Amino acid sequence: MNEEIINIENIDKSFGEGDKLLQVFKNFSFSLHQGETIGLVGASGSGKSTLLHIICGLDRPDSGSVKIKGVDITELNYDERSQLRNTEIGFVYQFHHLLPDLTALENIALPALLAGTNHTEAMKNSSLLLEQVNLFGKENNTPNELSGGERQRVAIARAMSNNPSCLIMDEPTGNLDTKNVENFMTLLTDMVSIRNITLLIATHDTKVSGRLDRLLSLE
Ligand SMILES: Nc1ncnc2c1ncn2[C@@H]1O[C@H](COP(=O)(O)OP(=O)(O)OP(=O)(O)O)[C@@H](O)[C@H]1O
Ligand SMILES: [Mg+2]
Repeated sequence: MNEEIINIENIDKSFGEGDKLLQVFKNFSFSLHQGETIGLVGASGSGKSTLLHIICGLDRPDSGSVKIKGVDITELNYDERSQLRNTEIGFVYQFHHLLPDLTALENIALPALLAGTNHTEAMKNSSLLLEQVNLFGKENNTPNELSGGERQRVAIARAMSNNPSCLIMDEPTGNLDTKNVENFMTLLTDMVSIRNITLLIATHDTKVSGRLDRLLSLE
């Protein structure tokens, strides 16, 4: 069996209190191994985004453990959690969240620069990633000078900047047309399989979930 990348054990998570208490997770456990690709599916409001935020350390469970490569992130302080997230996890949002004043090349290099990689090396790696997502020639375009599909490819390349063990995506294809969703999934599954990266995608799109190894359905 491949190395366990993510292990979640017995987490509880509620929002609000008293009469308004909403329990999203009760005694929920699951694990992901290296190189697996998983779709997170379930109705709107079932807790997909909440789970992704908990895995990334952007939100905390009320109880239970969340381990990334054996390290329980619920026991880390803010800085330690941020550092682990930046190096081990690449996150792609529905609305890419690229920085509007930076070029495509600079956006891709940013996580590596934040992790302390020297400038020359970070830019060189960024150029390579930019070519791998088929954006050669668009280095100096800012996000508003790119199409929706191109922006989403910059966001994938940026998420790969620090060679993460896990890539997490929340509805990454919400703004793409059918043809672009297919191209996006081909590019994505090729990139993660070459690098043996674990992929977890929350999605409502069967053209996305149909291309993954297994599905985790939340109720
Ligand atoms: N910060 C918060 N405060 C209160 N309630 C919240 C908060 N975040 C999420 N919720 C509630 O928790 C439930 C799960 O939300 P979540 O965003 O995880 O759903 P989802 O499965 O991602 O839905 P969608 O498919 O619409 O994106 C929802 O009922 C939501 O209203
Ligand atoms: Mg969501």
